[in-house]
Amino acid sequence: MDTALLRNATREEHNATEATVPLMDPSLTLPQYGDVLARMYRIVRAWDDWADVHAPNDLRPILHTRRRAALLANDLKTLGHLAPSVEEVPHERMQSTAVAGDPRAVFLGRMYVMEGSTLGGQLLARHLEEHFGFAEGMGDSYFRGYGEATGERWRQFKEFLEDLPEEATDTVVASARNMFALFAEAMSAKI
Ligand code: HEM
Repeated sequence: MDTALLRNATREEHNATEATVPLMDPSLTLPQYGDVLARMYRIVRAWDDWADVHAPNDLRPILHTRRRAALLANDLKTLGHLAPSVEEVPHERMQSTAVAGDPRAVFLGRMYVMEGSTLGGQLLARHLEEHFGFAEGMGDSYFRGYGEATGERWRQFKEFLEDLPEEATDTVVASARNMFALFAEAMSAKI
């Protein structure tokens, strides 16, 4: 499938989700940052756990090195917070809102959103280090993510999307929209 088409078809959802993440706000405080990390932990942990169960076998080796909820738990610890408990993780939403269709296309649509978030993360990490005076990766290891390997890992992941048949496009787009919506929901939820 054509990944440029996927990017264009989900641009609005990206922007809407980005707008729920207030990390570029010039008045961002540490308590607010802690709240953002806790919200992200819930949805990223839900994704990690769902992905563990639903990953197609050939994706398991790359998925294994891309689990990121633990990075958020570390960042929360660095800031003196506990990670949210497992009862707060929206496993049920992940399960019940998954779109219908070919399971591989559904999986890759959701993974596209989670992997793509590492790209903006690089920019956010640099900004947060400057804003809060963090040493590199101390309190923002989630956003540092794959670091210098980010571009290479993104290209590696995109090959799986490119290998999908054209017919998978609608399901991948629908599943990516679903994942963007779940992320935005976690960021905006009343807690
Ligand atoms: C303040 C928050 C965010 C900022 C500033 C941001 C910024 C960016 C930027 C600059 C890119 C393009 C990077 C490049 O092409 O090298 C990008 C791509 C992307 N971001 Fe974000 N982003 C944010 C939040 C998110 C979130 C929360 C998600 C998902 C949950 C997300 C998912 C994606 C995806 C999937 C792409 C890849 C688009 C493509 O090329 O197909 N972003 N973002």
